[in-house]
Amino acid sequence: MQQPSTIILGIESSCDDTAAAIIKNGKILANIVANQDVHKAYGGVVPELASRAHQQNIVPVVEAAINEAGIKKSDINGIAFTNGPGLLGSLLVGSSFSKAFAMAMNIPLIEVNHMQGHILAHFIEEKDGSKNPPTFPFICLTVSGGHTQLVKVSSYFEMEVLGETIDDAAGEAFDKVAKMLSIPYPGGPLLDKYAQLGDATKYKFAHPKVPELNYSFSGLKTSVLYFLKKQLKENPDFITENLNDICASVQKTIVEILMIELNKAIKQTGIKRIAIAGGVSANSELRNQIQNLTTTGCEVYIPKFEYCTDNAGMIAVAGYFKFLEKNFSTQGITPNARMKVNQ
Ligand code: KG4
Ligand code: ZN
Repeated sequence: MQQPSTIILGIESSCDDTAAAIIKNGKILANIVANQDVHKAYGGVVPELASRAHQQNIVPVVEAAINEAGIKKSDINGIAFTNGPGLLGSLLVGSSFSKAFAMAMNIPLIEVNHMQGHILAHFIEEKDGSKNPPTFPFICLTVSGGHTQLVKVSSYFEMEVLGETIDDAAGEAFDKVAKMLSIPYPGGPLLDKYAQLGDATKYKFAHPKVPELNYSFSGLKTSVLYFLKKQLKENPDFITENLNDICASVQKTIVEILMIELNKAIKQTGIKRIAIAGGVSANSELRNQIQNLTTTGCEVYIPKFEYCTDNAGMIAVAGYFKFLEKNFSTQGITPNARMKVNQ
C-alpha cells in the first residue's frame, strides 16, 4: 500500500534571513530565502530592522515557496518554525505567522530548534532523489554567527554538546575581523573570497589555550586588532596593500583552531563520522580541512552551500521528523531566544 504523503512548510526567521521551504516526505520541493540588505549600512544586524523586514517578507516568501513547489496551500500537512535560538523580535514574526497559519489551515504546529535544524540539514533529500545522510552516531561541528559547538548526534533529536566556545562564535570572529578590515557586512563570505587569493603563511596568530574540547575566539580578535594597529602606524596603507594575505592568515588560524578540537573529539569518542553545519561551514578552507579528514579514515559530510547558511529547508526537514513522531506544539508556545542544542 502506498504511504500517504506528508508535506511540511518550514519557516525560518531567527536572524536576518526570512526563509520558507516545502518538504514532501523528506524531499525538498522549494527552498526560498530573502536576505535583508537593510543591515549593510550598519555593519551588522539591527534587531529592530530585522523584525520589520521579516514582517514585510514573510508572506511573499511563503507564497514563492508554495508556487515553486507546485502545490496548493491546502496540500500542506504541518507547519514547522524556528522557535530559537535567535533574536526575539525576529523569532516572534516567524512563530506568530506559523501559529496563525496552523490555526487557519487546521494543521499541526511544530517548533524546531534552529541549531538542531542546521544539523538535520544533512538529511534533506534533493529533488532528484539524491541524499547522503550520516548514520548515527556522528560528530557535528556546528559553526555559525552565534554558535561554535562540537555535538555528538545519536539520533534525530538526541544531541550532546562535547565542547563549545566560551566567548565569541567562529562566525563572529570572521565578521569582527572583517569589520576591522573595512570589509562590508556580512564579512565572513567576503573574507573567505579574499583569503583564497592570499598567502596564509604570511602572518602568524596565536592559538587560545582552553580546557577540554572548548573553543575561544576573543583572544584572536584582540591579537588581530593589536597587530593591525601596529602595522598601520608604520604604514597607513598596510590593510589595502596586504588584504588578501591578512584574510588568508586569519582564516587559516580560525580553521586550525576549529580542527584541533575536532580532532581531539574524534580521538576521545572514537567516532569517525564527521559532519559540519551552520553558516561557517560554507567556508572554503574549513571545507578543505574537513575533506582532508578522509585521509585519516573518517567519513565526512559537508552540506550543499544553500543548506549551510540560514534556510528553511533545514527547519522543514526537522519538522518532518517531528511530524512522523506526532511531536506537535500548542498555540501557547513562545520563542526561546537562548535555546540550547539539546533542548
Ligand atoms: O548559520 P548562519 O547563516 O546564521 C546564524 O545562525 O548565525 O551563519 C552566519 C555566519 C556569519 O557569521 C557569516 O559571516 C558566516 O556564517 N559565514 C562565513 C562564510 N559564509 C557565512 N564565514 C566564513 N566563511 C564563509 N564562506
Ligand atoms: Zn544559523
